[in-house]
Parts: sequence; structure tokens; C-alpha cells
Amino acid sequence: MNKLKVAVLISGRGSNMMALLEASRQPESSFEICLVIANRSDAGGLAAAQQAGIEADIIKFGDFETREAFEEALHDRIEHSDARLVCLAGFMWLLGDAFVQNWRDRLINIHPSLLPAFKGLNVQAQAVEMGVRFAGCTVHFVRHELDDGPIIVQAVVPVKPADDENILAARILEQEHIIYPQAVQWIGEGRIRVSGERVLIDNADIHNEAIISPFDTFD
Ligand code: GRF
Repeated sequence: MNKLKVAVLISGRGSNMMALLEASRQPESSFEICLVIANRSDAGGLAAAQQAGIEADIIKFGDFETREAFEEALHDRIEHSDARLVCLAGFMWLLGDAFVQNWRDRLINIHPSLLPAFKGLNVQAQAVEMGVRFAGCTVHFVRHELDDGPIIVQAVVPVKPADDENILAARILEQEHIIYPQAVQWIGEGRIRVSGERVLIDNADIHNEAIISPFDTFD
């Protein structure tokens, strides 16, 4: 089977990137990581990717004159790697229209809230402050607006009375490491289609009860 080639973009510790990498090395995996790009030289995930034998590059905005030139360089590098899917995994950069349009329906992100609630930064702290009873994470296709786009999969966790943002973030992160590889696995298996604002999943087998996913199937 031809595995789906995936590029992962990171800015920090890269634990989601590592979860994707680990899943990609399972025998039944439908995808492989062909490239990791960091936009910061101090991104912890960079060394981890290199140690794992993955091609890992730094492409920094500071080395370019404009946002467009930076994103063009990102685009060219990814194209050159033959990746067919781009995964944002803690990539701290709001990608512009040209990049998003070029990779439409081939660009996904993970966000540590149950979208469309709590977009942006520090969302676990916001969830604790707002007193919501449930929090979670979302994998979605990327659109022009921040943390917006058709939802592929979500996982739910409880918010407990004694939680602070770190405890809640850790509980959510555990689920992130499950649903991100799951979403990519489905895409690699050709089970995912975007229909308007919704994602259809063909015959998805869901093994984790925290995961909430639409029951749609293809026609
Ligand atoms: C994760 O919480 C992810 O949902 C968010 O940024 C964080 C990245 O963590 N987009 P890591 O670098 O994958 O450990």
C-alpha cells in the first residue's frame, strides 16, 4: 500500500508530532512522516524528530522580508518533500490566504478545545475560568479564520473542580495524542471527505469512548 506522505509543522516541544511519528511506525499505519519543519530554532520537537531519523528543517520568518516570502518558502519545501498532507502541531503562525488555499483540504490542525468554543491561545485556562464542565480537543481542516474549519474528530474530557489550567491541559493532551494520529490514519485510508462545512467519515471504527465523531458515511 502507498502510504500517505505527511509534513508536520511545529514551533515547540512537538509532543503531537511525536505521537504522529509513533503511530506512523505501526505496521498498519496508512501514513508516513516525510518532513518536519519548525519555525523556531529552539523548538524542542526538532531534535526529537532528528533523533528519530526524520528529515527536519528550520524555516524562520526572520530570514525573509515578508510574510508571503516566508510562507512561499514553507510551501516550496513541503512540495519538494512530496507530502500530500500538512499537519499543524503547535505551529505558532497564522498562515495567510495563499498557503491555506494551496493546501485546502490537505491542511489540518489540532486545537486543545472543543471548537468552536475557545479559539486562540491559553484556551485550557479559559475553560477553567469559564467553569465549563467538559473540555477537549479538535482536529479540523484549516480555513482562513483562526481555529476554524470542518471538524474531523473531537475528544471530550471532564473538567474537575480542583483542575488548574496545567492539570486540564495534561488531560486534554493525552487525548490529542490519540485523535491526531486517528484523523491522519483515516485520511490515509481515504475515509475522509469534506462536504460543505462538514466532514464525512466512511466506516470509521472508533475504539476510544472519549472520541466523538460524526456518524456520517459516504453515499
Ligand atoms: C497542543 O496543545 C496543540 O493542541 C496546540 O499546541 C500544543 C502543541 O503541543 N495547537 P506539542 O508541541 O504538540 O506538544
